[in-house]
Amino acid sequence: MIVLGIESSCDDTGAALVTDQKEILGEALQSQEEHKQYGGVVPEIAARAHLEHVDEMISVCLQRAHMDLSQIDAVAASAGPGLIGGVVVGVMSAKAIALALNKPFVAVNHLEGHALCARIAHPIEFPYLLLLVSGGHCQILVVKNVGEYQRLGTTIDDAAGEAFDKVAKMLGLGYPGGPMIEKLAAVGDDRRFTLPHPLANSGDCNLSFSGLKTAVRKIAESYASDGDVAHAILPKQDVADICACFQMTATECLTSKLERAIKYFKQHYPTGQHVVVSGGVASNIYLRGKLKDLAERYDLDFAAPPIRFCTDNGVMVAWAGLERFRLGLTNDLDFKPRPRWPLDENAPKAAGAGGVKA
Ligand code: KG4
Ligand code: ZN
Repeated sequence: MIVLGIESSCDDTGAALVTDQKEILGEALQSQEEHKQYGGVVPEIAARAHLEHVDEMISVCLQRAHMDLSQIDAVAASAGPGLIGGVVVGVMSAKAIALALNKPFVAVNHLEGHALCARIAHPIEFPYLLLLVSGGHCQILVVKNVGEYQRLGTTIDDAAGEAFDKVAKMLGLGYPGGPMIEKLAAVGDDRRFTLPHPLANSGDCNLSFSGLKTAVRKIAESYASDGDVAHAILPKQDVADICACFQMTATECLTSKLERAIKYFKQHYPTGQHVVVSGGVASNIYLRGKLKDLAERYDLDFAAPPIRFCTDNGVMVAWAGLERFRLGLTNDLDFKPRPRWPLDENAPKAAGAGGVKA
């Protein structure tokens, strides 16, 4: 069984071919550089760039697999959540292929792509506990099965990746911020500044990064003679120290809420064996290390997708498409892309859902 997947929901245009034997036959990815000068993703520029690259990504992916489109069994695309202009490009491409070749179409929830992606590389059974940390989302979920999720917690303001990006922007480190902050944090002193842990005592699994971001802003502003962060002149080592303190505190916020969720998970899903992290921020080696320690303390196995599949890519969409396709979960060609599409929308309201007290 071979599924073609197309990703275009943010600033990466990706295509991949995967099999039910967990082989990646071919893949192609174009990460848009156009946004760097703006310090964030510009939706209109992203949509145009997807339009420009999507056909090429599909062709390159097929060439690498030495295949043609007639050999695929189904075609999947990220159909939301995301920037609507980009999502439409991927979905229309997938529908065109489905229609022309009479193949099934699968509308993949982009978050489900992140959620299931680790299963292509590791033997992870349902149910498992998932920390989904990307540029647009930050959630703790129980993955009960394909299409079945219980959300235990979510950010009430910024996503984790968004916080990395905003902190990087105020320190003049460019976009995306995560990789640069991780690099500098490695040579910084993580005890130099004390930063707040928002919602630490909220008694649930929800997260918040806005106060943490503001605290970093105040530190950066103190380096500007006029108090404007844009005019701050920070010595290199001070930037590294701020990065180290921010990365450590953001990680502590994530691990403390995940620990709460682990307690709930172990009690309510005693057969569950895995804690999984995914999404762009899951590329962060420091975070991965702390999450692994935490999972092991609770006798759970830790897993994460290979680093190159943490940020957006075609493989995660092809794989989620395949998981749905083999269960018979295909979509009609009149499926409308969904810029907002919660992962747990069809979940029965379990006690404690949305704000687990542990
Ligand atoms: O999953 P993703 O590619 O896009 C969304 O679906 O949002 O995630 C992108 C996010 C960006 O915010 C980026 O700064 C963050 O992932 N990121 C990282 C690292 N690499 C990427 N954050 C922290 N550490 C990293 N090494
Ligand atoms: Zn993503």
